[in-house]
Amino acid sequence: MALPILFPLVCSVILLILSGSTANEEAEALLEWKSSLQNQNTSPLLPSWAVSDPVNATASMCNWSGISCNNAGRVVSINLTGTGLIGTLDEFSFSLFPLLSYLNLSMNQLFGAIPPRISSLSELKYLDLSTNRLNGSIPEEIGNLKSLVHLRLTKNQLSGSLPPSIVNLTGLNFLNLRDNRLSGFIPEEIGLLRSLHTLGLSKNQFSGSIPPSIGNLSNLEFLYLRDNRFSSSIPEEIGNLKSLSCLRLGKNQLSGSVPHSIGNLSNLEFLYLHKNQLSGFISQEIRNLVKLIKLLLYENHFIGNFPHYTCQGGSLEYLSVRDNHFEGQILKNLRNCTSLVRVRLERNQFTGNISEEFGIHPNLKFLDLSNNKFYGPISSNFVKCPQLGTLKIAGNGIDGIIFPEIGNSTQLHELDLSSNHLVGEIPLELGKLSSLYRLMLNGNKLSGSVPLELGSLDQLEYLDLSGNRFSKLVPENLGHWLKLHYLNLSNNEFSQGIPVQLGKLVQLSELDLSRNLFCGEIPSQIGKLESLEKLNISHNHLSGLLPGQFEEMHGLSSLDISYNEFSGPIPDNKAFRNASLEALQGNKALCSDHVSGLLQPCKALTSGKQRKEWTIFFLVVFPVAGSVALSMVAIRILVRYRKRKRDSKKQQRSANTGGLLAFEGKIRYEEIISATQDFDDKYCIGHGGYGSVYKAKLPSSEDIVAVKKLHSLHPDEMGTQKDFFNEIRALTEIRHRNIVKFYGFCAHTRCSFLIYEYLERGSLDTILSNETTAAEFDWNKRVNAIKGVAHALSYLHHNCSPPIVHRDISSKNVLLDLEYEAHVSDFGVAKLLNLDSSNFTQLAGTYGYIAPELAYTMKVTEKCDVYSFGVLALGVFKGTHPKDFLSSFLTSSPNTNIIKLDDMLDPRLPSPSPDIQDKLISMMELAFSCLDVNPESRPTMKHVSQLSCK
Ligand SMILES: *[C@@H]1O[C@H](CO)[C@@H](O)[C@H](O)[C@H]1NC(C)=O
Ligand SMILES: *[C@@H]1O[C@H](CO)[C@@H](O)[C@H](O)[C@H]1NC(C)=O
Ligand SMILES: *[C@@H]1O[C@H](CO)[C@@H](O)[C@H](O)[C@H]1NC(C)=O
Ligand SMILES: *[C@@H]1O[C@H](CO)[C@@H](O)[C@H](O)[C@H]1NC(C)=O
Ligand SMILES: *[C@@H]1O[C@H](CO)[C@@H](O)[C@H](O)[C@H]1NC(C)=O
Repeated sequence: MALPILFPLVCSVILLILSGSTANEEAEALLEWKSSLQNQNTSPLLPSWAVSDPVNATASMCNWSGISCNNAGRVVSINLTGTGLIGTLDEFSFSLFPLLSYLNLSMNQLFGAIPPRISSLSELKYLDLSTNRLNGSIPEEIGNLKSLVHLRLTKNQLSGSLPPSIVNLTGLNFLNLRDNRLSGFIPEEIGLLRSLHTLGLSKNQFSGSIPPSIGNLSNLEFLYLRDNRFSSSIPEEIGNLKSLSCLRLGKNQLSGSVPHSIGNLSNLEFLYLHKNQLSGFISQEIRNLVKLIKLLLYENHFIGNFPHYTCQGGSLEYLSVRDNHFEGQILKNLRNCTSLVRVRLERNQFTGNISEEFGIHPNLKFLDLSNNKFYGPISSNFVKCPQLGTLKIAGNGIDGIIFPEIGNSTQLHELDLSSNHLVGEIPLELGKLSSLYRLMLNGNKLSGSVPLELGSLDQLEYLDLSGNRFSKLVPENLGHWLKLHYLNLSNNEFSQGIPVQLGKLVQLSELDLSRNLFCGEIPSQIGKLESLEKLNISHNHLSGLLPGQFEEMHGLSSLDISYNEFSGPIPDNKAFRNASLEALQGNKALCSDHVSGLLQPCKALTSGKQRKEWTIFFLVVFPVAGSVALSMVAIRILVRYRKRKRDSKKQQRSANTGGLLAFEGKIRYEEIISATQDFDDKYCIGHGGYGSVYKAKLPSSEDIVAVKKLHSLHPDEMGTQKDFFNEIRALTEIRHRNIVKFYGFCAHTRCSFLIYEYLERGSLDTILSNETTAAEFDWNKRVNAIKGVAHALSYLHHNCSPPIVHRDISSKNVLLDLEYEAHVSDFGVAKLLNLDSSNFTQLAGTYGYIAPELAYTMKVTEKCDVYSFGVLALGVFKGTHPKDFLSSFLTSSPNTNIIKLDDMLDPRLPSPSPDIQDKLISMMELAFSCLDVNPESRPTMKHVSQLSCK
């Protein structure tokens, strides 16, 4: 069985021994190289490469695909272009092919270096290794290929510089090294390659200047140097290249002006000088280039008028001079140029009356005149460009109406007339442009309705009508624009509801309806816009609830619904969750149970109690130069701030500004000082453990805050600065409806203060000590207030990380808002001020509320707060501090605890109704359990908070 496999091997060995001829060596060499390739067996071409006639190997080699022999059976040509070879040239025995004159291995996947041994192909005239993955540098030995006429190494990964020996290849007429990673300078001696008709070095990293000797290449027809790093100016000598038909110097760093000698290149058809640093005037000589077909001068610094008669020869088709500083009346110069196909003049200073100077260009397909100083009405000459597909005249001084004849330009697919002074209505004829996919009329003074006829533009993908005075949208149109992915109607006077037909725009990715007078609710059909990514409906009169369909819009990433009249919960959708306050502000009453911090929880709203609005401010305290440690602080804390809807003055203001309540500003030390007239007594609203409290109306915003001025602090009392600010930040981040918002801390050498949300009704202590207010604080309100305190403490203990122990729950530290909702204040301050380690120790806790264990242990735990809560709850029901009860409760044994409900209730209130009485009893039982002498036996606040809701 082994015989058939062995046979060819044996034969080839025999052949080698028998003949020893060079032709057989060539065959062997080719087979050896074949065996080095990675895909020798799968390449579509190489199967023919095998010795089929063991007697005459030469005969079969010459029949191999890609191989050609001379009459003597010697290989003269190898053409393996595009045969899928994968491998290197390392195993190719170049020296065995002395007669090879054509070698084409282009469009394969050869990698590795070009071996220097390639220089032994002394008869080689044509070498093409283009479109492979060859790397390394071009070997110096390539200069020995004296017969070479055609050298093409384009599209590889060759690096290094041009081998100097290349200038010895004087027979070359084609040299193209485009699209490699070659660098360095072009040697001056390049001028020796006088036979060259093509020199291509584009898309490399060559630098330095273009050597003037290039002007010696008198046979050159194609000079490609674009996309390199050539600098300095274009050599005057380039004008000697009288045969040149194509000059590509674009995308370099060439500077200076274009030499006048360019006018000598009378055979030039393609002149690319774009994307350089070229400057100055374009010399008039350019008009001698009568064969010019394509002229690209864009993205340079050219100035002055554009030369007359540029189109003299009548062959100019492509002209791009965009992004320069040209001026003057170019349209006039081009007026007779009927050959034009594509013209880009945007972003220059060209001027001229467009209706008078625009010529007739029957072949014109693309015209961009944007951002120049053209003026006058749009001429109907554009209609005489029957092939016109793109017309852009944005950002000029075009006035008048949109001429109805535009409907005859049926090839138009892109029309941009934005940012001009167009007036009147959109002509119905525009509806005839059935190929239109981009229409931009934004930034004009167009008015009236968007005509029904526009509905026939069913190819429309991009429509911008923003910044006009349109007032009416035909809803049916929306139903036709099924391909639309961008729709901008912002800044108009649309006053209807958002059409339900919007739901048909399933391709829409960006929708901007902002700053109109749209009203009513958002139709639920919006949920069908599955592709929508950006939505802006801000500054309208939209109202009602936000449709739940938003939750299915998974692509939505950017959103602005600000300044409408929306209320209710925001949908649970990524875009809403990530929305900034700015994107939601200025609405009626939005809430959320998903987004913490930004909006109030929806429970607050649905209970109908409070309607709150959001606003924001920054607190910034700047360090006072040269002052001591205490003042070396700067806090910049972003806090969110709730406002009372009931504040009638605010309400008025919000009405005036479309719901605007935001005041974006900075509260500074000076502002607080001036608002309180340097802590004048008349602003003082109470005294607490740590200092007095002042009511401050901020001059910048008219918002009211409570400022707690601290007894003077010693730096030690603040702990280390870093910890201190971390604490502050943590405290300002706490968000709970039953916790007073802490806006920040201001430290100054003279005095320090804490800034809090201001609560209208003051502390429980104040309310209970006044007959009138105590009478208004009925049983239901009291039960509710206690629940609020329980929720707040539960939050501090169980939802904050690390847990925050209040340490000082007392009737003085629980404040009530207008709705009698309780807000716990002064949380964490004891710790913040490091009171345990200072002479403030005695203040950490209020007498009568301190848990008994603190008398013998300094271990402050959550259970201390639980005890204080128990005291507080009983006090609120009783109307005063329950001290008599406490002393008997603590000293008596468990079985003598018979308590009369009446003794526990505030005599200033009428007897509770039976159902309230039940509530009071269960709350009181809960409070008793909090007073257990053993801290471990007291319930957790979480437990209390849950039970109190039953
Ligand atoms: C081998 O084949 C070539 C080409 O067919 C022919 O010219 C040559 O004479 C043959 N040599 C022998 C030894 O048969
Ligand atoms: C090389 O081969 C390609 C593809 O087979 C062919 O198109 C081309 O004409 C050949 N070149 C020469 C010079 O034979
Ligand atoms: C060019 O060829 C000559 C003679 O073959 C040699 O002396 C010279 O060094 C070569 N030039 C370069 C730059 O390799
Ligand atoms: C355009 O052609 C008209 C008529 O052939 C001629 O009178 C006019 O001078 C030409 N204008 C330019 C700018 O070439
Ligand atoms: C353009 O169309 C109108 C009809 O809308 C027609 O009357 C007019 O002749 C057309 N003009 C040109 C220049 O084709």
